[in-house]
Amino acid sequence: MIVEFRESMQWLDTAPPDEVKRMVEALYRVHRLIAAITDLDELLERITEESRLVADAEASSIMLFDAEAEELFFHVALGSSGNQEALKREVRLKLGQGIAGVTAQQRKSLIVDDAQQDPRFYREADSASQFQTRNLLAVPMLEKEHLIGVIEVLNKRQEASFTDLDMRVLEMFANLAASAIVNAQLIKEQLRIERLAAIGQAMTGLSHYIKNIITGLTGSVDLIEMGLARNNLDVLQRTLPVFKRSTRRIANFVQDMLSFSKPREPLRRSCTIETILREAHESLAEFYESRGIAFVLDTDKAQDTIYVDQEALYRCFLNLFANAADALQDCPEARIQVRAEQVDPENLLITVCDNGPGIDIAVKDQIFDPFFSTKGSRGTGLGLAVTRKIIREHGGSITVRNQESGGACFSVCLPKDGPVLKTGASLPG
Ligand SMILES: Nc1ncnc2c1ncn2[C@@H]1O[C@H](COP(=O)(O)OP(=O)(O)OP(=O)(O)O)[C@@H](O)[C@H]1O
Ligand SMILES: [Mg+2]
Repeated sequence: MIVEFRESMQWLDTAPPDEVKRMVEALYRVHRLIAAITDLDELLERITEESRLVADAEASSIMLFDAEAEELFFHVALGSSGNQEALKREVRLKLGQGIAGVTAQQRKSLIVDDAQQDPRFYREADSASQFQTRNLLAVPMLEKEHLIGVIEVLNKRQEASFTDLDMRVLEMFANLAASAIVNAQLIKEQLRIERLAAIGQAMTGLSHYIKNIITGLTGSVDLIEMGLARNNLDVLQRTLPVFKRSTRRIANFVQDMLSFSKPREPLRRSCTIETILREAHESLAEFYESRGIAFVLDTDKAQDTIYVDQEALYRCFLNLFANAADALQDCPEARIQVRAEQVDPENLLITVCDNGPGIDIAVKDQIFDPFFSTKGSRGTGLGLAVTRKIIREHGGSITVRNQESGGACFSVCLPKDGPVLKTGASLPG
């Protein structure tokens, strides 16, 4: 094995020192680059560009091998001119078809000094890309005998055509590239599997959540029917709050899903933070009362008119208030304290604090993740994810800490009419 390697590297003895230095430097750079990149598309793009530099060519391309169809297809093509999109769309080569197809079939590199005169040359690629190939070097990318694809470099810049040295270096380069590609493909597949598993898990959680609500609804309807049949007002009075709670939970859930599913810019209009906080509280007032939860609201230092999405922020505070109530279950002297104040000319600070057990330290980093919930089938885990998304869309931020006296305290920093965040961007916090 070592003898074979020495023999294969003998060409280095006769290569001009400058050239060897250039190549070794290029390979070193490429090795570092390949080790650092795990995103497949980015990796392929960088490999294509680096092969062009390594071989000092005008253009380069990578074709990947589709083992099922036994075809090569263009993944990336880079160069000074040409239509790369057309190449990607239109060109697929069978094994043995074109120079790349022959290289793939024989698993052997090929130098073509005059492409236009070579009968194997696949002219359609030139017409699709509007590129004029004079000469080319094609090298197979192999990983443990498996064909991964073919690298092609086109039109040598300084000299008449590609040399043996170019070929040797590009072969070494292609070996590195092949294992990096396989690695990145494995990572991509692993991520896909993990994502599918996460979606499955989320769906199971949501189904349980909805099933529970529906069970509550069906039970209430049965009771209401019975109450009506027997003219029993007492049963009706006792069942109606359960029924209302279930419909409210379904409405909240649907709203959360809608708010979470797509990026949107706030529909701003003038209002006050007090109006929003009062509306959110009113929706839960009956529930708080039934649980003996005291609610204290202080907005004295935040009376200015603000320009925000009233409906969306109502949802945020509804989520925070509902979470606080959940945390306060079975707590004596349960209390939620909400304070809004203007901290500077542009920003409001709104704090929502409760005297429950506080955020479990083990899950503190996950509570804003979508579908993260410690409430089993009683929670979707969308509440805080939606809340943070809406606040960020307003250009604000949300943080949480546990108070020394116990209990969680959420702080929302909200620009009064701050910049609208463009979709897809994100802010820390
Ligand atoms: N005030 C709080 N005190 C303690 N833990 C909290 C508080 N607020 C949120 N949490 C934790 O954060 C988790 C995520 O909250 P989030 O609102 O996103 O989902 P959820 O309340 O579980 O479900 P839902 O989507 O129905 O609101 C909760 O399950 C809970 O563990
Ligand atoms: Mg919640």
